[in-house]
Amino acid sequence: MGYYKSTILVTIFIILISADYFMPCKAQLSTTFYDTTCPNALSTIQTSINAAVSRNGRNAASVIRLHFHDCFVQGCDASLLLGGAGSEKESAANDGVVGYDVIDDAKAAVESVCPGVVSCADILAVAARDASVAVGGPSWTVRLGRRDSPDSNAAEAATDLPRGNMNLGELISNFANKGFNTREMVALSGSHTLGQARCLRFRGRIYNSPLPIDAAFNTSLTAICPPTPPTGDETLQPLDLVTPNAFDNNYFLNLRASRGLLISDQVLFNGDSADSIVTEYADNPATFDSDFAAAMVKMSEIEVLTGTSGIIRTVCTSAT
Ligand code: HEM
Ligand SMILES: *[C@@H]1O[C@H](CO)[C@@H](O)[C@H](O)[C@H]1NC(C)=O
Repeated sequence: MGYYKSTILVTIFIILISADYFMPCKAQLSTTFYDTTCPNALSTIQTSINAAVSRNGRNAASVIRLHFHDCFVQGCDASLLLGGAGSEKESAANDGVVGYDVIDDAKAAVESVCPGVVSCADILAVAARDASVAVGGPSWTVRLGRRDSPDSNAAEAATDLPRGNMNLGELISNFANKGFNTREMVALSGSHTLGQARCLRFRGRIYNSPLPIDAAFNTSLTAICPPTPPTGDETLQPLDLVTPNAFDNNYFLNLRASRGLLISDQVLFNGDSADSIVTEYADNPATFDSDFAAAMVKMSEIEVLTGTSGIIRTVCTSAT
């Protein structure tokens, strides 16, 4: 190779490298982000999440849902965790969301080994992965370097989060707004293999719904969730009645048997365009696991704050 040619190549190489390192708008997530600043961050989070899940199996579900509700509203910036008037947390869309204490505990454990270094948004992303693993679900690699928002937005929670009475078209467009296709939406809905819903959220599924429902399933639900609010509103029912605290593909088997608890669950299998995806996940748990993991990685990187944007909060549920 001639001298001039190689000089040109070296110059191009240097330009590419410096663009990556020195342009602040280029700050990216990376798997090694805390390797020097907090080498025990990941093991500390995992220990804390494992303890929380052994204490109460539902904690795995609650943490995964926290991460979802955080990421769908102004990105994965831990904005959900902030309280106070006008916060996302106080929005009706987040009524019934639980598990904030689990993240506060994980953050306290991390603060005790490296104060002021690891963001709440990263802790939430890692905690969701660890929660999946703790209940037999898939693992995935979480890229790190998210920063926390100093504020949150109740109005955006109301517009951006999906609701349990949405039909298939509404779910598809809600997830499309965040960059997800129908297949990814169905895979992520598979989180409803874990956790609980309150009667006030599934009452519409059992009374006056045109969707098919398994007769015995309906009988058991009507017994705990009477038709007239507020009687029974807070009564909990597992989203997957078969294995509520294990991550598996029973959710999809339930849908095929007309045992989806929410309207938004059963519309995924109702003679419509998502049926074939539900069938695929019902027949092939490994495909569900890998699609779920890939969709969680994608979800965890929605509109993240990096570089010098945002802050690192000390207490996840408090603004400073
Ligand atoms: C497809 C649109 C979705 C709708 C309409 C929806 C709606 C709901 C509703 C109504 C509940 C019960 C809440 C209550 O009674 O307080 C719930 C629980 C839950 N959701 Fe979803 N969800 C959706 C997607 C997701 C996604 C994408 C995830 C996670 C990636 C997720 C994770 C969970 C979990 C784990 C629970 C149980 C939480 C617990 O027991 O603490 N959901 N969801
Ligand atoms: C479920 O059972 C209740 C009580 O018998 C009935 O009113 C309701 O129509 C049933 N739901 C469906 C969707 O068939």
